[in-house]
Amino acid sequence: MSSNVRPENMKRINTPELAQAFIDEQVAAVRTQVGDKKVLLALSGGVDSSVVAALLIKAIGKQLVCVHVNHGLMRKGESEQVIEVFGKALDANLIYIDATDRFLDLLAGVAEPERKRKIIGAEFIKVFDEESAKLEGISFLAQGTIYPDILESDGVKAHHNVGGLPEDMEMELVEPVKLLYKDEVRVVGEALGLPHGMVYRQPFPGPGLGVRCLGAITRDRLHALREADAILREEFDKNGLAGKVWQYFVAVPDFKSVGVRDGKRYEGWPAIIRAVNTTDAMSATIEEIPYALLHHITDRITHEVEGINRVCLDLTPKPIGTIEWE
Ligand code: XMP
Repeated sequence: MSSNVRPENMKRINTPELAQAFIDEQVAAVRTQVGDKKVLLALSGGVDSSVVAALLIKAIGKQLVCVHVNHGLMRKGESEQVIEVFGKALDANLIYIDATDRFLDLLAGVAEPERKRKIIGAEFIKVFDEESAKLEGISFLAQGTIYPDILESDGVKAHHNVGGLPEDMEMELVEPVKLLYKDEVRVVGEALGLPHGMVYRQPFPGPGLGVRCLGAITRDRLHALREADAILREEFDKNGLAGKVWQYFVAVPDFKSVGVRDGKRYEGWPAIIRAVNTTDAMSATIEEIPYALLHHITDRITHEVEGINRVCLDLTPKPIGTIEWE
């Protein structure tokens, strides 16, 4: 296996030319490593696994088998984008598994945050295992490991990775971007022709909306959260905040308040907006969103999303609040 240490003289990849040189080098390396064998990849649709998928499709085409597990906790349109980009545009060998019911059934009634995370993580591995057992002749497992994952593997975020696969999978690893920093992965992704929105996607936790649908997840509240989050993202995109704010999302707690709609009592959940800036996610400051835009977003969410009757803004920096609510 190749080294896990970035050579000191390795240039930071920050131009299309450097990205192309990296791609050419990795395409050759992957072809040498893999030969005519098959490679399996868990494709979440996040930046890292997407860039690895695009790189491997270029190198070995249909010898790559991508598995996308939809755990039912994706943001609006994300699984659809994976199918569109990889299944259709890049014509990849893509297996799409809609495991929504499995995950949501297991999570029903579970309110404790760590327990929710564990259930999601364990079930992800189970689904992926079951799918890979059905495939024949797979010799390699590709992973979107990046350099910070190697540097921080014993650090604060170690518990975070839901995409983490079973350690006893007896397959040799293919990790073409493991010596790259995130900004470099993005430059390489653009050079590979992936959509800008996919390559510059904000970070999204492995357990997805599961950590933002607070307390015990219900399908109706999860749906409301997904719709409210989509409105927030759409408005940030339209108003030039998407490229400026590091992470922004909605969380929906599991309690209701009294409201009024069409002259009648209307009980609903609050949608809590969180928009933070950070460089390393270890600490974070609050982005100042123009009030006019906040009013507009509030208006849209309360009118367009069934079940939401208030919008609140979280002004808490990290520390003392973590970025996610759970
Ligand atoms: P916290 O909430 O700990 O989050 O301040 C710091 C950053 O990590 C993200 N996060 C996760 N990322 N799997 C991930 O890949 C996870 O389980 C997870 N939990 C939190 C969070 O969105 C923020 O960017």
